[in-house]
Amino acid sequence: MNASMQDTTPFAQFKSLQREMWSGFAVNEGFTTMVAGELVAFAKVAPGESVLDVGCGTGVVAVTAARAGARVKGLDLTPALLERARENAVLAGVEIEFVEGDVEALPYPDNAFDVVLSQFGHMFAPRPDLATAEMLRVLKPGGRIAFSTWPPEHAMGSLFALIGRAMPAPSPGAPVPAPPPQWGDPNIVRTRLGEAVMGMRFSRSSMNLPALSPHHVLVSIEATFGPLKTLLQRLDAEQPEKAQTVRAEILRLVKDNTDGNVLRQFYLLSQATKKGAA
Ligand SMILES: C[S@@+](CC[C@H](N)C(=O)[O-])C[C@H]1O[C@@H](n2cnc3c(N)ncnc32)[C@H](O)[C@@H]1O
Repeated sequence: MNASMQDTTPFAQFKSLQREMWSGFAVNEGFTTMVAGELVAFAKVAPGESVLDVGCGTGVVAVTAARAGARVKGLDLTPALLERARENAVLAGVEIEFVEGDVEALPYPDNAFDVVLSQFGHMFAPRPDLATAEMLRVLKPGGRIAFSTWPPEHAMGSLFALIGRAMPAPSPGAPVPAPPPQWGDPNIVRTRLGEAVMGMRFSRSSMNLPALSPHHVLVSIEATFGPLKTLLQRLDAEQPEKAQTVRAEILRLVKDNTDGNVLRQFYLLSQATKKGAA
C-alpha cells in the first residue's frame, strides 16, 4: 500500500498536491548533487553506519552517503523521484532501499539509524512537530540528525515567502501548513529539536545557479521548480495580472541575489546528537 492510500490525516490533500508538485524535480538534481557532499561531510557519516535520507528525492544525499561506505535507506513522498533515485543507485554501484513514505509517519522502528539526514526535504512537511518527533524516534540514542534548509532571509526563503503571499487563500477550514523556511532559522531549529538533543551546531553554505540574465532564471525555475510552477499556472488561468506581478517580483529577487552570472542561494546546515546512551 502506498503512502497516499494510507493518509487519512487533515493534510492528505496537501500531500497529494506536494507529490504532484515535486514530480518534475529530477531536472534539478544536478544542483542538489553539488551540495549533497557538504551535508554528508557535515554529519560526519562514517563507513558502516546506518543512515536514513528523508525527503530523498532522486537520492543524491543517499547515494553520496552510500559511496562513503554507509548502509543507507531513502524515503520520499514522490514516487516519480524514487524511480530516478533507484536508477541513480544502480548507476553509482551502491545498494539503497528507497521507499515511498511520509516524514510525518516514518515506516521504521524506534532507534533504527545512526544518522538521519534531510537535504531540503523534511522542511516541506506541514507539521514540523510530527516530522521532528518521527526523525528523532527512528534515530538511535547517541545518533546524529543533520539537515540542510533554506533560511527565510535569503533567496529561496524570499521566494517561498513570495509564493506564500501570492497563493490564493485556502478554502475555509483547510489546515494551514507551517512555512518551510522556518526550518532555516537556528532559533526555531533549537526550539523544535529541544531537550531531546545535545551538541547542536550550525554552518552555512550556498548552492549556486547559473544566471545569464534574470529572465533566464525566471524561465528555468518557472518550468522546473514545482511550487512556483503550480502557483503561476494557477494565476495564469485565474488572475493573469497577478501572475505578471509575481514574475516581476521574482525578477527583482533574482537581480538582488545575483553576483555576475551566479545566483547564490545561501542555506543553513544544522546538526545535533540525540540524548541517551549510545
Ligand atoms: C527540494 S526536493 C529535495 C530532494 C532531495 N533531498 C535533494 O536534495 O535533491 C524536496 C523533496 O521533499 C519531498 N517531500 C515533501 N514533503 C515530504 C514529506 N511529507 N515526506 C517525505 N518527503 C517529502 C518531495 O517529494 C521532494 O522530493
